[in-house]
Amino acid sequence: MTQPLERRNLTHNLISLLGMVMAAFGFIVGATLIYVDMQHHFDNPYTGLFTYLVVPAILAGGLLLILIGAIVEKKRRARQGTETSRLPVINLNETRQFRVFLAVVVTTLLFIAISVVGGYRAYHFTESVEFCGKTCHSVMKPEYTAYQNSPHANAGCTKCHIGPGADFFVKAKINGLYQVYSTMFNKYNRPIPAPVHNLRPAKETCYTCHWPEKFFGATELKRTYFRADEENSPWTIQMLMNVGGGNASKNGAKGIHWHMASDVKIEYIAADEKRLEIPWVRLTGADGVPTVFQTAGEELTDEQVAAAEIRTMDCIDCHNRPTHQFHSPERALNDALTSGELDSALPEIKLNGIDVLTGEYETEGEALRAIDAKLTAAYPDAGEALEKAISAIQTIYARNIFPEMKVSWEGYPDHIGHMITPGCFRCHNGDHENEQGRVITRDCASCHSIIAQGPGVDVTSVNTGGLEFKHPEDIDEEWKETRCDDCHTGVPVM
Ligand code: HEC
Ligand code: HEC
Ligand code: HEC
Ligand code: HEC
Ligand code: HEC
Ligand code: HEC
Repeated sequence: MTQPLERRNLTHNLISLLGMVMAAFGFIVGATLIYVDMQHHFDNPYTGLFTYLVVPAILAGGLLLILIGAIVEKKRRARQGTETSRLPVINLNETRQFRVFLAVVVTTLLFIAISVVGGYRAYHFTESVEFCGKTCHSVMKPEYTAYQNSPHANAGCTKCHIGPGADFFVKAKINGLYQVYSTMFNKYNRPIPAPVHNLRPAKETCYTCHWPEKFFGATELKRTYFRADEENSPWTIQMLMNVGGGNASKNGAKGIHWHMASDVKIEYIAADEKRLEIPWVRLTGADGVPTVFQTAGEELTDEQVAAAEIRTMDCIDCHNRPTHQFHSPERALNDALTSGELDSALPEIKLNGIDVLTGEYETEGEALRAIDAKLTAAYPDAGEALEKAISAIQTIYARNIFPEMKVSWEGYPDHIGHMITPGCFRCHNGDHENEQGRVITRDCASCHSIIAQGPGVDVTSVNTGGLEFKHPEDIDEEWKETRCDDCHTGVPVM
């Protein structure tokens, strides 16, 4: 016996039925997967992606279809004149109706409970390093690899890229949707452009773990450089970095982190996209009176200043690569030779290392094979030292150079220092002057004092009073005037 049409439920139609099947499928599969994840934790980002994005999408799609079906059905009935606009009369004293009502309430509560758990876990999943670093594997590989080998390897991507609070969380997810789209349709840039313009201000990210008042005194920096000659001749420089910092209100901030003291504001205008050329700097100190330093001979006009973007200096203007460091072949080889991962007894290993690392390769696989082949040909009798050298140099390549994403040290200059990028010398090259003729210092001793330097890996006689820099190669007094990065680029100066 069929019910009269107008008494039948609005969801009795093909579209809604399909929706119900989809929703039920999504619900059961989702609940099962969430349970499995809670017990055994998924490592694979794709399983997470399926559980927390695809399955909920199916569930939501199903619910939407049920609704659409009902609306279409209602319209159809209205057109046929069979629609009765009365709301259903519920009588809970009737056993059948009571049972249906109870079932609906229990299902709804269960659904809400699982959605809350699922939503919470979905939130954690999309904040995880696995999700950020591994889902779009090829795109994020350079940043993820560098991150894993950095001092921040345990910090988590979102600590720097999203930070606390709901507003940035929402912004990041909306931005993330665009990123998923551009990855799926292969529309992303290679390499990903830096600087990142919508990066959250450092005060709201870095400051959750570091703050300027906590820096003081000096830290030690010791580096050994190996020449690209027959003997891989070493030269060591040991110095104290005057990191300074301190509390502006107590004893006045000093040293390198003085820039970040609460009573100091430094603004600048960059002439290029990468912020490598800084012709204009405005300092407002404790007295509140601003003073402008400009590159002598290249002063900006008032119109140019008015039209330019003025950026306030923060941590990122020096630490732009706190975690995604792509080292130059020179630096990476020096580090490996210093630690012994690479045997400096192999003749010309520095030169050969530079040669294989700077080859033109289309893919990482091709590069790793070429490194193996070229080094094997160069040291046919080296035995174990050769095996070690191949493995060390392949590791250097895989950590620092990413041909598929066109990423290497060249495209991502690090602003810390001044040897192969302008870095501090963007402002501290001794050519930025204010109207009174005061110059932003280029005095080597204002930032660090050299306590030992010379040939060999171990420099024994330490002079804490500070030494004058001795350039390892005789270039007269050139280092006093010329910027270091005019000659040094990350590979030996020829
Ligand atoms: C210690 C803080 C920090 C952490 C942790 C961190 N990043 Fe970054 N990341 C930065 C900064 C700062 C920049 C901006 C560099 C610039 O503007 O020049 C950046 C830039 C990027 C870029 C743009 C390309 C580039 O290299 O400049 C990508 C992509 C990126 N990060 C992905 C990630 C991923 C994925 C993770 C986690 C695996 C992560 N980041 C963890 C600080 C961090
Ligand atoms: C989640 C906490 C956290 C956040 C956020 C964070 N850091 Fe760190 N940072 C650390 C830890 C932990 C270390 C390692 C400390 C150590 O080695 O003593 C570190 C080390 C460093 C170092 C020293 C690196 C070295 O070679 O020893 C620098 C520089 C640094 N952080 C800069 C930044 C900057 C810039 C930001 C913001 C973009 C930032 N950090 C955000 C936790 C954090
Ligand atoms: C003017 C450039 C500059 C600014 C701005 C700056 N730093 Fe540094 N920071 C340095 C230099 C240079 C060093 C020493 C690095 C080295 O030895 O390689 C350093 C060292 C550090 C270290 C390691 C210190 C230690 O004692 O081991 C941390 C952490 C750090 N900075 C975090 C920050 C944070 C967070 C900010 C923003 C509040 C910031 N820095 C702003 C230049 C800067
Ligand atoms: C955007 C421009 C700019 C950049 C980049 C910059 N500085 Fe500075 N720095 C200044 C200005 C301006 C002063 C103040 C000059 C003055 O008052 O005569 C200053 C002063 C200093 C001082 C002296 C602080 C004191 O004790 O009074 C040190 C040390 C210093 N900077 C280190 C660095 C280091 C290290 C870097 C690179 C990691 C760097 N700066 C990058 C603009 C800059
Ligand atoms: C404005 C601050 C500042 C001034 C001025 C400065 N330096 Fe440096 N220098 C740095 C910083 C910061 C580093 C650390 C780089 C790093 O941690 O990789 C550095 C690193 C170095 C290194 C090691 C280079 C490397 O990348 O391995 C040498 C050598 C050096 N400085 C020599 C000099 C000499 C010589 C002068 C004077 C002409 C000078 N510096 C002036 C800030 C400065
Ligand atoms: C006129 C070019 C020129 C300038 C400017 C210059 N250098 Fe050099 N530098 C060289 C040459 C040439 C060598 C020896 C060849 C080589 O090994 O790369 C060298 C070697 C070095 C080495 C030994 C390690 C190495 O790479 O072999 C250090 C350290 C160094 N320079 C630091 C600096 C610093 C710091 C500055 C800036 C204050 C500077 N140089 C400015 C030309 C220059």
